[in-house]
Amino acid sequence: MNHLKHLSVRAITLAAAMLPSAAILHAQTAAPAKPMALQTVMATLGRDMQTVTGAISREDWAMVARLAPDIAHHPAPPLSEKLRILGWLGTDAGKFRGFDAQVHEAAAAMGEAAARGDGQAVITRLATVQQSCLACHQAFRKSFREHFYGQP
Ligand code: HEC
Repeated sequence: MNHLKHLSVRAITLAAAMLPSAAILHAQTAAPAKPMALQTVMATLGRDMQTVTGAISREDWAMVARLAPDIAHHPAPPLSEKLRILGWLGTDAGKFRGFDAQVHEAAAAMGEAAARGDGQAVITRLATVQQSCLACHQAFRKSFREHFYGQP
């Protein structure tokens, strides 16, 4: 009897000890996930692309030539986030990186065309950049957001 009493006290103590962690767990799932660093990289890419289209309308090729390398060599998220993303991508990592490489290549070519003052070529290359952005978004954005934010 004495032994049983001792046991139940232990069980209650154990349950009490578990309560706070359950509360923390709940808070973690309820709170919106922190934005990924990739989102800031993407927002900057979006702004740079808008500035490029504005510059094309003014035939400001010097501006396009200045912005193209920023698009081609956009920053990567910090290593820890990169590893998280690569872990999530698994065997799709090559596909994801391929879209990124297409952006780099097309943006570099757009910059070269701008440096030559070749407006037609700038626009052709811009379309390729945009196709690469769209291809990655269509393939990965929804599942990325579902995985890292728990929402589409
Ligand atoms: C390799 C894949 C990939 C490529 C290439 C890519 N994106 Fe993204 N982009 C993403 C992902 C994933 C998200 C979702 C990020 C998030 O919600 O945290 C995103 C989100 C965005 C957003 C929304 C950011 C926000 O504030 O919610 C913009 C704008 C954007 N991308 C612009 C671009 C532009 C412009 C290009 C091409 C120059 C581009 N992206 C190329 C993967 C890519």
